[in-house]
Amino acid sequence: MKTSGGSDAMKRRAGESAAETVEDGDVVGLGTGSTAAHAIRALGERVDAGVEIRGVATSFASRELAIEERIPLVDLDEVTGPDAAGIDVAIDGADQVAGGDLIKGGGGAHAREKLVDSAADRFVVVADPSKETGVLDRPVPVEVLASARGVVADAVRAAGGEATLRRAERKDGPVVTDNGNLLLDCAFGPIPEPAALATTLAGTPGVLEHGLFVGLADEVHVGTADGVRVLEP
Ligand code: A5P
Repeated sequence: MKTSGGSDAMKRRAGESAAETVEDGDVVGLGTGSTAAHAIRALGERVDAGVEIRGVATSFASRELAIEERIPLVDLDEVTGPDAAGIDVAIDGADQVAGGDLIKGGGGAHAREKLVDSAADRFVVVADPSKETGVLDRPVPVEVLASARGVVADAVRAAGGEATLRRAERKDGPVVTDNGNLLLDCAFGPIPEPAALATTLAGTPGVLEHGLFVGLADEVHVGTADGVRVLEP
């Protein structure tokens, strides 16, 4: 699984704190990344202790870990739609957090993450302090159809950014997402108005999903050196 900056102990505290908020009977969105993985492991322990939950994976990696942890899984389309149970809570990490706004997609999973996280009644973000910022300024991951990468790169440039195709590390060529598409990491510098940029990116033909999660977070659990700070943006 992809790892990022920040202390593993802090990530674990955040993940465990979020997992404690899950109730018996809940349908739980299982996020992707090293911090969400701690939440999945903590949920696995609760399942071992007899708590009944069902998980909705946001990626190949989170599905693999949930299976290892013996968390019963359901597909998103089994729990959403008319008369369906719905998702009670989703727990997911972030690459950067500014209040309730996030940049996600460092692991390339943001398309399914956004589907699951936004469908949940409650979206709990898990992070360590290295993710917190006043203004989002990391490159925004954008999942694109392969043939659209040039068109989207032009649109990103017109919007004031620079797009870089994400390259694989142990394979020649690009990273291919779980959905069979490519990723452009789009550097815009500081993003004082993420909602406006999110609208521009979402309206660009060829874009499957971008990594700006604007105003979606209900709680942010930040693991620290000696505990957890819970923010409600
Ligand atoms: C996956 O594509 C991302 O959105 C992750 O949720 C994000 O990169 C956080 O990962 P870490 O917890 O490993 O930093």
